[in-house]
Amino acid sequence: MTDTTNTIKHVASPLARQTLLDGELTRPVAGVRPIRILPWLQVVKIGGRSIMDRGADAILPIVDEIRKILPEHRLLILTGAGVRARHIYSVGLDLGLPVGSLAPLAASEAGQNGHILASLLAPEGVSYVEHSTLANQLAIHLTAARAVVGSGFPPYHHHEFPGSRIPPHRADTGAFLLADALGAAGLTIVEDVDGVYTTDPRGPGGETAQLHRETNAADLIKQQGTLPIDRALLEVMANARHLDHVQVVNGLVPGRLTAALRGEHVGTIIHTGGQPA
Ligand SMILES: Nc1ncnc2c1ncn2[C@@H]1O[C@H](COP(=O)(O)OP(=O)(O)OP(=O)(O)O)[C@@H](O)[C@H]1O
Ligand SMILES: [Mg+2]
Repeated sequence: MTDTTNTIKHVASPLARQTLLDGELTRPVAGVRPIRILPWLQVVKIGGRSIMDRGADAILPIVDEIRKILPEHRLLILTGAGVRARHIYSVGLDLGLPVGSLAPLAASEAGQNGHILASLLAPEGVSYVEHSTLANQLAIHLTAARAVVGSGFPPYHHHEFPGSRIPPHRADTGAFLLADALGAAGLTIVEDVDGVYTTDPRGPGGETAQLHRETNAADLIKQQGTLPIDRALLEVMANARHLDHVQVVNGLVPGRLTAALRGEHVGTIIHTGGQPA
């Protein structure tokens, strides 16, 4: 009896007796590259404002394109929020709601967009799944169907970081976090512009905007002004463990998403600059 107790008490663990705050001490154990959980998975983020808010004109061609490419890829399709989240932000900010209250409200619109997309792809066996299913049962769903749809918003919800009044971790960031955590083969971000420009091509002075064909997160983070992707995504990219790059493509141009999933360079490639452990 005493021996058994001693054995249990002395379970060998290299991290048992030290702080987890010292990188030098944890590196021998924690510094190895994590496994790729779903290495064959392609993650696609569909823009809420840029695609879903445009309704049938933009959504139906993308759905058709996704339907045709399903035999080639197994997809996790994650949707962003759009105009309804912007409205709820303005109402909530006017009322003084904190960022942690606004995040789940906006996330619910990303989920609504996902439900819409999943309904249109249902004949192909595609369903909308909640975050808990994404976290725990994605593999079984992707064994039963070629694709699943989820909300791109990361489920920080009331734990959203309080740095700004608008939730900083939105669908682009959530899609990247999930794709990198799963060790996915790639992440394609679908917008309504050809990629990331030096300035908003639709904004004032847009005629001078130059398309970045290829760039990296560290350079892009220094670019002043607006971007078609979350700024938090660029910060998260610096710590990528698997994804070497993401591609931003124009979903309004037929064939661009298909080409990107086939590994072609048809939009803006953003290198993560992550240091694989
Ligand atoms: N530097 C830039 N390069 C390219 N597009 C830009 C840039 N700055 C702003 N934009 C604008 O961003 C728009 C896309 O907006 P946004 O990224 O908010 O939409 P979305 O990705 O569909 O939204 P969500 O993240 O909620 O899903 C483009 O139509 C473009 O006009
Ligand atoms: Mg965007």
